[in-house]
Amino acid sequence: MDGNGRWASSRGLERSHGHREGSKAVRRIVRAARRMGVDALTMYAFSEQNWQRPLAEVSALMELLTEFLVTEREELMDNGIRLRAIGRRQELPSPVRHVLEALETDTEQLDEMTLTLALSYGGQEEITDACRGIAERVRAGDLECSAIDEALLEAAIPSVDVGAVDLLIRTGGEQRISNFLLWGAAYAELVFTDRLWPDMHAEDLHEAVAVYQTRERRFGRVPEADDASEPTDPEPVRRAGE
Ligand code: IPE
Ligand code: MG
Repeated sequence: MDGNGRWASSRGLERSHGHREGSKAVRRIVRAARRMGVDALTMYAFSEQNWQRPLAEVSALMELLTEFLVTEREELMDNGIRLRAIGRRQELPSPVRHVLEALETDTEQLDEMTLTLALSYGGQEEITDACRGIAERVRAGDLECSAIDEALLEAAIPSVDVGAVDLLIRTGGEQRISNFLLWGAAYAELVFTDRLWPDMHAEDLHEAVAVYQTRERRFGRVPEADDASEPTDPEPVRRAGE
């Protein structure tokens, strides 16, 4: 969700106005995704690196987040939306953590859609934390190094609990991943739009999904039409000298 600051500056407003407008876009996109039947929506609300922004901006973002968690509670519950957070939550101010965790508990059983908020999140940090946990299991004698494979590492990465990323949308014109879902986005289809986040509407989500539907996902394999593993009319094998 990028472009809140630019949305505000271009109107001569303070950045926090952009974030406020951005939170309205969050509501719109959550609603639109739920209506489309999206199973899992993950939103990059606050990165580990965002802590380095001016204190006033960080405070404004934390306030907006708390407000969102309070005002959206009913709509999330009425629509069967489970809310959860990924990221280093211990770094969040305790009042934020308090409302967040209450909502996580109260929506735990809901399964129409999972809305994941990435808060104090970084993809590299998430993989690092997973590795530390695995190292501790090895040190405790519960795990052999030889048992560490991609599946074991993946199981320790919370952002992939909802599955690998199918479609990753970045707004605001930049074409980079900025430490988002690094593990889960290995085969994600990327869609970049110049639209600033506060200007995002349901139609823009529909458009991104339409673009996604034109993509051919191969996961490193060849297109199905070229798959010769079961040829219908095989060429005879020629041996040397024949
Ligand atoms: C929103 O956009 C990102 C959040 C931290 C919520 P920005 O605040 O990065 O907006 P720009 O890039 O300055 O326009
Ligand atoms: Mg930005």
